[in-house]
Amino acid sequence: MARVLLAYSSVDGQTLKICQRLQQLFMSLGHKAELFAIGQAAGPNLDAFDRVVIGASIRYGKHRPEVYRFIEAHREALERKPSAFFSVNVVARKPGKNTADTNPYIRTFRRTTSWVPGVIAVFAGKIDYQRYGYFDRLVIRLIMWVTKGPTDPAACVEFTDWQAVERFAQQVGSGAE
Ligand SMILES: Cc1cc2nc3c(=O)[nH]c(=O)nc-3n(C[C@H](O)[C@H](O)[C@H](O)COP(=O)(O)O)c2cc1C
Repeated sequence: MARVLLAYSSVDGQTLKICQRLQQLFMSLGHKAELFAIGQAAGPNLDAFDRVVIGASIRYGKHRPEVYRFIEAHREALERKPSAFFSVNVVARKPGKNTADTNPYIRTFRRTTSWVPGVIAVFAGKIDYQRYGYFDRLVIRLIMWVTKGPTDPAACVEFTDWQAVERFAQQVGSGAE
């Protein structure tokens, strides 16, 4: 039994939803898994965990700075134990951009931090226009129009490949990292 920390940075809840699914999957593999929202005042003590998974979504081309601050604040502990990172974005809905080696945000992530997680993954997120404010909806619809995604302002589309999430859980949960 391993104690797994699932630290996440999520604005609209899709990264959190993926972490909640991972939590269930780890528990079904016999592990203990705890969620932590990055950015909360009191950070977790990473020594209390055997493995750490960090998940973060993309907005306007970037993972939030708090994700990199969290990594830096816990770098020593992260380097001492098996760890994994995943990014959530809608570019990853495209077949040629849905792996750690082909997704542009993972490339930027690798350039931005020298932390080298044992497993890196990318999952497609969700578009839910009704949740967004006027400006965000306009910009995202424009981007979707250019990239041939959904543009109906009432659209709510979840692109997440839950089987890929399960494969990631198996990989991390079996200690393959
Ligand atoms: C304002 C806004 C900006 C976004 N910018 C990007 C982007 O630059 N690239 C991308 O691939 N996805 C982008 N997305 C899509 C999000 O990554 C996707 O909705 C994801 O599911 C959000 O995860 P979260 O709910 O955990 O925050 C954007 C979404 C919003 C609402």
